[in-house]
Amino acid sequence: MADLTLSPSDSETVPDVADDGVWLTCIECGETHAPFDDVIYTCEECDGLLEARYADAPTFDDFEGRGVWRYSEALPFEEGVTLPEGDTPLHYVPRLEEDIGVRNLRVKHEGMNPTGSFKDRGMTVGVRVAQEVGVGRLACASTGNTSAALAAYGARAGLQTLVLLPAGKVAAGKIAQASLHGARILEVDGNFDSCLDIVQDLAGRGEAYLLNSLNPFRLEGQKTIGFEILERFYEDEGRFPDRIVLPVGNAGNTAALYKAFRELVASGELDESEVPKLTGVQAEGAAPMVEAIEEGLDDTRRWEEVETRATAIRIGNPVNAPKALPGIRHTDGTAVAVSDEQITAAQRDLAEEGVGVEPASAASVAGLRKLREQGEIEADEDVVCLTTGHLLKDPDAAAEAGADPEPVPNDTDEVLAHLQE
Ligand code: F0G
Repeated sequence: MADLTLSPSDSETVPDVADDGVWLTCIECGETHAPFDDVIYTCEECDGLLEARYADAPTFDDFEGRGVWRYSEALPFEEGVTLPEGDTPLHYVPRLEEDIGVRNLRVKHEGMNPTGSFKDRGMTVGVRVAQEVGVGRLACASTGNTSAALAAYGARAGLQTLVLLPAGKVAAGKIAQASLHGARILEVDGNFDSCLDIVQDLAGRGEAYLLNSLNPFRLEGQKTIGFEILERFYEDEGRFPDRIVLPVGNAGNTAALYKAFRELVASGELDESEVPKLTGVQAEGAAPMVEAIEEGLDDTRRWEEVETRATAIRIGNPVNAPKALPGIRHTDGTAVAVSDEQITAAQRDLAEEGVGVEPASAASVAGLRKLREQGEIEADEDVVCLTTGHLLKDPDAAAEAGADPEPVPNDTDEVLAHLQE
């Protein structure tokens, strides 16, 4: 099992490799690495996942300003390539709250970021690091949203971008974004996991800087979702939420939220008992994390065949599982799989509250409903569901889930007659 203990700041010995109080630690063997000298994505000793570490753990008082860079004390830089991102709404959804039956239900809508997904939080930090290490070309594999964010932030930074997408399995809005922002788009005859294999090979050969969530700095940006939820919920309710329910693909957000909580525990801002239970939701056709939780595995088994309407989370080999599985277990959370029909129903439920999300995002609400019905989530819980991408990302799925337009003649009387039918 990975070691994800963050030593308290006062007893931390900052390793020689640290750069201005920042370094990388391997979660498997503990080896420390310089953060920006060489381009590395995994441990040079054992190939384990890396995590960014800091000399000081952040406190709420350290946070200043708005958006992702409000949390710069907990990030490797003071500022980055920004559009700007973060500061997303924490919606009240009173009818859905009553219908599902929990004390508080809030929806953190990450679709309100500049390119319409939470990926912008990771990219504002990741592209800043790319500038620091001095690379020419940025690359990612993607089910769509990462490619849209990479293309936009790469364009903003004036860097070339290359994206590898699974052919025929990426929603229209996302390809349109990557295309217009000037990414070179390669459509691979394979699924997301094959795209990631290839882009990792390219990065390993020095052809591009990898900005998938395997890159530990991406997760530093995404960690700010956790800080924002805690601050905002506390402001409104005078306490922290009991549980955060989120869709899971590569399990980057699960790992990132867990890191945010561990850092606040390390600084003494959050008691262990106050850490929200991380609850991951996957589509039934792509649920290796759920399988690993149910079977008590330390890592996921790779699913070669994956299928779901929620194409954003059509992933069979979640690379961040060694970070995310302990996050779910140590917070007393769980993981659950939902059907495509349950996902579409939840997409409609959110839409009825005025919150427009893409299918993968609705998985969080579908999962909450299922766990509540199974009695695994109690009626007295305060729950935040994370919705990760905007409705317009996948216009085809939205149109399918919604009502069909009705053709009418070009005449007021006939329009009235039609309305009265
Ligand atoms: N929701 C949406 C809308 C996503 O786009 C993704 C991942 C996830 C959830 C899963 O998040 O990987 O942190 O568990 N999309 C990636 C992409 C894979 O390429 O856009 P995770």
